[in-house]
Amino acid sequence: MLSEVYLDNSATTVVIPEVAAAMQEALTKNYGNPSSLHRKGLDAERAITASRRIMAKACFVKEEEIFFTSGGTEANNVAIKGVARRYRRRGTHLITTKIEHPSVLYAFRALQKEGFTVTYLEVNRDGLVRTEDVMDAVQDDTVLVSVMHVNNEVGTIQPIEQIGKQLKSAKKEIIFHVDAVQSFGKLPVLPDNWQADIVSFSAHKIHGPKGVGALYCKSGITPDSLFHGGGQEKSLRPGTENTAGIVGFAEAARIAMQKREENVQHMACLRQRLLDGVKTIPNVVYNGTQEAAPHIFNLTVSGVKGEVLVHSLEEHGVYISTGSACHSHRTNPSHVLQAMGLTEKEIEASLRFSFSPYNTVEEINYALEKLRNITASLRLFTRR
Ligand SMILES: Cc1ncc(COP(=O)(O)O)c(C=O)c1O
Repeated sequence: MLSEVYLDNSATTVVIPEVAAAMQEALTKNYGNPSSLHRKGLDAERAITASRRIMAKACFVKEEEIFFTSGGTEANNVAIKGVARRYRRRGTHLITTKIEHPSVLYAFRALQKEGFTVTYLEVNRDGLVRTEDVMDAVQDDTVLVSVMHVNNEVGTIQPIEQIGKQLKSAKKEIIFHVDAVQSFGKLPVLPDNWQADIVSFSAHKIHGPKGVGALYCKSGITPDSLFHGGGQEKSLRPGTENTAGIVGFAEAARIAMQKREENVQHMACLRQRLLDGVKTIPNVVYNGTQEAAPHIFNLTVSGVKGEVLVHSLEEHGVYISTGSACHSHRTNPSHVLQAMGLTEKEIEASLRFSFSPYNTVEEINYALEKLRNITASLRLFTRR
């Protein structure tokens, strides 16, 4: 028996030893304030500069276009509110989709209260946004379009490059934001190819620490800062830098990029194994498309409550999610599955498995066996 099978890696990942070691050094040796003039300050500043270089290399952009933040949520808020407010004179219409992460959706809702109008685009049954719908929504006064790369609940990959290309050929001044929190380190993240102006990242989805993120901000794009302070990160994100967190993020990104293709292949095998296995369990439906990201797998187990399954699997050391983690303590149904057209009953019966490169086929087999047994006994129980 395996003691722990962690399959909730889209919620967060374990910090790997290499990252912890890099952070330990930053915490105990490079602890100076990067703004200080003495050697301790310079050492910390150098560590941040080296981290910025790694992040820039990972997505083929310039170092000066990378800004560190306190996570993906902050990066999304700075990108969306910062851009909308800064370029308000150009127009007040904004476009996003119905399946974005709450840190995007609620940032747009906040902007509506400031007088902006927002178009929330529909998705199809697979959770895909159509480029034509994005283009149809563009108005003369549209200033910002925000579309996520990989959806955190079902793994759908959006046609980011196509959207970017068409947006820019229709209207050069529209600012294009991409939330790449779930794709960075797994799929190629190429802001230049996408013609994206601003892209968000988070460390804890790739075996880095929680509470650290980054923003790619194309040269010439200058969002308003949400904060006022000491001028760090060119005033876009003032506040003494989280050196250890930044160093940990860069080390996690370096390792993820080094093994990216190998990792993707491995996770695709794990997903296929899970898919083959669940096909043999009665009344289980896979949500999303086969072309989805390799690390996210969403399914509906008809007639069984997802929440009950999560807790039953937990008793066997298997950790998964219902919908997204940010929603796990609320009772309303997943907005993503809703937008994909699932009924409330189907949503209630939905589960998310999400992999890391460190998961094994043995773990998937174990989780499948437990899922099969628990589902059978829960169905027997509800039929009585
Ligand atoms: C797609 C997406 N965007 C943004 C975030 C927020 O990132 P963070 O947890 O670093 O604030 C998440 C986290 O789950 C996410 O999945």
